[in-house]
Parts: sequence; structure tokens; C-alpha cells
Amino acid sequence: MKTIIEPFRVKVVEPIRMTTRQERESILAEAKFNLFKIKAEDVLIDLLTDSGTSAMSAAQWASIMIGDESYAGARSFFRLEKTIRDLTGYEHVIPAHQGRAAERILFSVVASEGKSIPNNTHFDTTRANVEHVGADALDLPCQESHDLMSDDPFKGNMDIEALERFLAEEDHANIPLIMVTVTNNSGGGQPVSLANLRAVSKLARAAKIPLYLDAARFAENAYLIKLKEPGQGDRTVRDIAQEMFRLADGCTMSAKKDGMVNIGGFVATNDAEAAQNMRNLLILTEGFPTYGGMAGRDLEAMATGLEEVLEEDYLAYRLASTRYVARHLADMGVPVMRPAGVHALYIDARAFLPHIDPAEFPGQALSLALYLEGGIRTVEIGAVMFGRQDPETGAEIPVEKDLVRMAFPRRVYTQSHMDYVVEVMAEVWKKREQIPGWKITYQAPMLRHFTAEFAPRGPFMEAE
Ligand code: F0G
Repeated sequence: MKTIIEPFRVKVVEPIRMTTRQERESILAEAKFNLFKIKAEDVLIDLLTDSGTSAMSAAQWASIMIGDESYAGARSFFRLEKTIRDLTGYEHVIPAHQGRAAERILFSVVASEGKSIPNNTHFDTTRANVEHVGADALDLPCQESHDLMSDDPFKGNMDIEALERFLAEEDHANIPLIMVTVTNNSGGGQPVSLANLRAVSKLARAAKIPLYLDAARFAENAYLIKLKEPGQGDRTVRDIAQEMFRLADGCTMSAKKDGMVNIGGFVATNDAEAAQNMRNLLILTEGFPTYGGMAGRDLEAMATGLEEVLEEDYLAYRLASTRYVARHLADMGVPVMRPAGVHALYIDARAFLPHIDPAEFPGQALSLALYLEGGIRTVEIGAVMFGRQDPETGAEIPVEKDLVRMAFPRRVYTQSHMDYVVEVMAEVWKKREQIPGWKITYQAPMLRHFTAEFAPRGPFMEAE
């Protein structure tokens, strides 16, 4: 059969509240044209993030009921520990309530002023946690990653030569660890090849520097290795994932992605001394080491999720769903980053809206147009998120790219929802010349994208 169906039946439904275009006009105006400030109830299809937005399975809900809520030594912890040990091979498992909590604990213990952490590309919270302890977060993405439209299969790779140069120049005592983010979220959700991971691992081991994975989307990465890397097609995704983890010495994970849960995370490592220090810090802020800021039922659901995410029918459906949207968008001429990743698609807003000057926020313009036209919430990843104003002149300091990310929650939307997304995009594509640029009327001194207010520089896609 040609159609790859959702490999699940629906047992519980959550209604979507329909809105009219007119309603959305006033919702946007009231939110001062910032999609972070609208109510989730006012969104028809929410593609803001794939993080913490997964639908849990019947087996996960059953896990919730058998969660052991003991303060210390809960059975649910030992089940999670065993699941993570089997998957990763790492001895020490330290639960934390989400990815950034795991990052804070790891970097507080291993990094400090004067240290550097190389990564293919740090996710924002990873960078922030490295910098928070005074260390330097160094991104070493491969050269292929810079071309948004090339079809290279592993654009998430680390630049091996750049890492070699860095290791040759820097005192190894100042490099507490090397990190590889799988998949590379900030680099467009692109995967890292096994060959690349093996090369990084070899360099790390020769230099006696531990290698850690940021494993938020490890199963999606392993699945793309199976499909795209020569010689890997006959292996199970689980086997590939196990090798990925064994090439490294530890990991942090936000289980809100490939852990298939709404909250959760962990650090795992083979380093007994670091583990001891991390547990001590965990007790101070997250909780006792057998629950780490989560309820016993959360640990239980996470253990089940970490097993389900490696089911290949699930992964096949998930990739098919993203590729389906990517193919339809590309066919109509929408500039969507290639190749399609698994958790998200990234649209080049400058190419979509060439009439909007980059200083007038083309990414914001496109994401607002998608909401107005069809109630779809996406996220701008561009000048609003990363740019700032020159403190002297007030002019916008340009950023490299203006993208709009459509991230897909796991097991939440069906193919007809995706057909709707494609239809809305087709309408916006048709009317693209009517989409105005925007100006910021209020901004906070930091992380301005969450609270900024906007005004259009012209009429905003008037209804026909
Ligand atoms: N690492 C990666 C690669 C991530 O994508 C994220 C979160 C984190 C770490 C932090 O995990 O949210 O559990 O604290 N990414 C989300 C996103 C927020 O929308 O891409 P967290």
C-alpha cells in the first residue's frame, strides 16, 4: 500500500475550537500581534513546538496509574533507570524535570569560567546554561549546513576539521566535554550521521575528553541514519540508537521530545565522580535522586515512552507526515528548507516575502499571516528572536536568516490536519504580495520575542 497510515486508533479526543477569520483579526490585535500572547484555545493547529506536546499512548496512561510515589527508592525510578541503561549503556541515571534542568546540573558540575564546550550547534537553553557558568559555547556545524536548499542527507554533522583544529589549539584541560546535538534542532532539525559521530568519538577518546549527546531527538536521528546512511538499512533503529549512545560517554535529554511525555528529562553518564556531584546539586534544587523533580508516574510514563519511540511503524508514520507537508509546499514553490527533517519544517521567510525588507521582520510577517488565514500557530526563528536594536541608533542589527518553524507534535494531528495546513499555506502563498512588513512598538531588554508588541506597516491581508 502506498498510504502510510497513522499506526494508532484514537481513544480520547480533545476538541479544537473553531474560529473565524474575523475573530482571529481581533485576537491578533488584542495580543499586539505576538503569537506567544494568544490563548492556545484560539489556535486551530498548534505548530509552535514538538516539545511537551505529544499525545501519550494507552500504555503510557496505564503507566501513570502504576507510578510509585515514594519519596526515596521508588520502583518507577528503577524501571526508568533500567530502561535508560539498556538503551544508552550509561551507568548513572539522574532524572530532572526537563532538558534545561539536566543541562544546568551537568554544566554547573563540569564547566566554569575559562572552559569551552564545542557542539555541532547548541540549542538556546544549552548555550544559556554553558554561558551561565561563565564558559564559552562554541558551535562547529558542518559546511553543508549553511546551504538551506541543498539535499545533503546529514546537514546536522559537526565540522570534524574545525573540531580537530580546536583540539590542537586549546588546552584540553579547558574542554570539560564535547557535545553533539541529535538531531541538530537549531541547525534545522537535520540529522548527524553515524560516520560523523564515530569521527567525533575517535577524536574525543584520543584527547581523553568525554563526549555527551544532547539526545532530545535521538530516535528520529537514528531512524534517518537507518534510511539514509549506506550500510545501515538492515539494522533496527534501536540497535543504531544504542551504538550512537555507546560512541559517547553520557547524555542530557529533554524527554519532552523523543521521550513522548509532557514533562521530563535526565542526565546519564559513565563518570561516577561527576554523577555524585550532580546528585548532590540535584537534591538542592530538583529533588531526591530517585525522582529529580518529577512525580513517580512521570518517571513511569517516560520509561514507556522511551520504548515506544523506537517502534519503526511509529517513526515511519512520523517522517511520512512531515515529508507529506514538505512535498506539497515545495510543489507550490514555497521555499522550505531541504531535506525535510522529522520534527519540523523551516520556511525561508525572506525568499517567501522578498518585498519585505529584512529590517521589517519577514518571519514575523509570515507567521502572522498563517494565523490570520487559518489559525495555524508557528514560530518565527529570525530577527525577532535573535536580533536586537543598536543601542545608539535604534536601528535593527541584521541576523543571518529569517525562518518560520512549523514543529509537529507527536501523535497529535492526522493527515487531514496536515491537508488543512497545506491549504492554508497555499492561500497565504497566493496572497503573499499583500503581506506587509512590521515594526516593533515595545520590546523587553532580553528575550524580546516572548513579549514584544508589533504594528503593521501597511494593510494586513484584507479579506476579499
Ligand atoms: N536540547 C534541544 C535540542 C532542544 O530542542 C531543547 C528544547 C532542549 C534541549 C531543552 O529542553 O525544553 O525540556 O528544557 N527545545 C524546545 C523546542 C523548547 O521548541 O525546540 P527543555
